Amino acid sequence: MGVLTIQLPNKTYDVVIEPNGYERLATEYAPLLKTTDRIGIIVDETVHTLYSEQLKRFEQLHNEVHTFIVPKGEACKTLDVYGRAQSFLLQKGFTRNSLLFAFGGGAVGDLTGFIAATFMRGIRFIQLPTTVLAHDSAVGGKTAINMPEGKNMVGAFHQPEAVIFDLNIFETLPEREWRSGMAELIKHAYISDATWTEQLLQDEQFVQPAFDTLEEQLLKGVSVKAKIVEEDTFEHGSRKFLNFGHTFGHAIEAATNFGTLSHGECVMIGMAYALLLSEKASTLQQGEAKKFIQFAKQQGYLFDSIFEYSFETLYQFMQKDKKASFGTLHFVILEKIGHPNVMTVDESLCREVFEEMRQLIEG
Ligand SMILES: NC(=O)c1ccc[n+]([C@@H]2O[C@H](COP(=O)([O-])OP(=O)(O)OC[C@H]3O[C@@H](n4cnc5c(N)ncnc54)[C@H](O)[C@@H]3O)[C@@H](O)[C@H]2O)c1
Ligand SMILES: [Zn+2]
Repeated sequence: MGVLTIQLPNKTYDVVIEPNGYERLATEYAPLLKTTDRIGIIVDETVHTLYSEQLKRFEQLHNEVHTFIVPKGEACKTLDVYGRAQSFLLQKGFTRNSLLFAFGGGAVGDLTGFIAATFMRGIRFIQLPTTVLAHDSAVGGKTAINMPEGKNMVGAFHQPEAVIFDLNIFETLPEREWRSGMAELIKHAYISDATWTEQLLQDEQFVQPAFDTLEEQLLKGVSVKAKIVEEDTFEHGSRKFLNFGHTFGHAIEAATNFGTLSHGECVMIGMAYALLLSEKASTLQQGEAKKFIQFAKQQGYLFDSIFEYSFETLYQFMQKDKKASFGTLHFVILEKIGHPNVMTVDESLCREVFEEMRQLIEG
């Protein structure tokens, strides 16, 4: 049984990670559900198809439940879907006392959170995440939709009432989504704990661990995120550490047009880059990047994209990243494993690391 409490200045909520986690909605969360006049379930089309029985059980939790189905993946994080969902809620009579469920991966969570943050200036919502990656995205209160100009460009900080994982839901998760989610998990290890990192690097079943280890691992990942979010809810300081691997990772994601590789697969490439940068420009022990790349390749992560795009192309995307300010790039580096820091990096160093990374991957 895994429960972790997140304590923020203005909000305290639980993250539940366990088999049959959804059963808690009818017990522990019944008093909360009694305080709401309507429940809106925002669900992506794939999860809707796979889990129609589960949806029926959600619908029995209250006498006014309305379900809104959205496209799967990033396609739901648009102004159009956002607007249609708001109209749906208004037409169904939702009020400031209503509650939303986000039933899907990180994309549905981000969309639903932003709908909840802005509907009638803010209503409550519960995250029911269905991907491994969402151990990262569902906790911490960042919500957003994408704009034609860029990803996650419009959003708000809005914390959920609860985050409930039901481990049974992972049975249908495609391998690629496992790989994506586990990348964020090892990110949490690298920025917090050398022993845990080593344990993951030694795990041959890293990409798809057994359920009992998964529960423990996800709780560890959430606790790293929770600790950082508790320290720095609005990302002025240490929350930036969660972007480890993301500056270069986002550039790969943008260059590949958010299609061929998943978010976590791009972050894996970004972490290899950040580790190499940490060896060159900080105090990280030599050889860590090489070890990580060998591990990632063995686990089926692909690095081909760094040969498909030039440094110039990727550098341009890095500069567009919203975390870059005034043309300087800020990278999260590791002074040693478990000890992140932020560093400004100029173009020539960026290029050197890129060339070296290509050599390491070929080798
Ligand atoms: N808010 C944050 O702090 C934060 C942090 C990291 C990522 N994110 C966001 O999270 C999103 C990525 O999340 P994601 O990787 O969960 O992607 P996702 O929500 O797009 O889901 C990935 C795919 O898996 C399918 N899927 C989901 N659950 C399934 C299940 N149980 N069985 C079978 N298929 C299932 C979905 O239909 C989708 O096609 C991005 O939009 C990213 O920006 C947000
Ligand atoms: Zn990420």
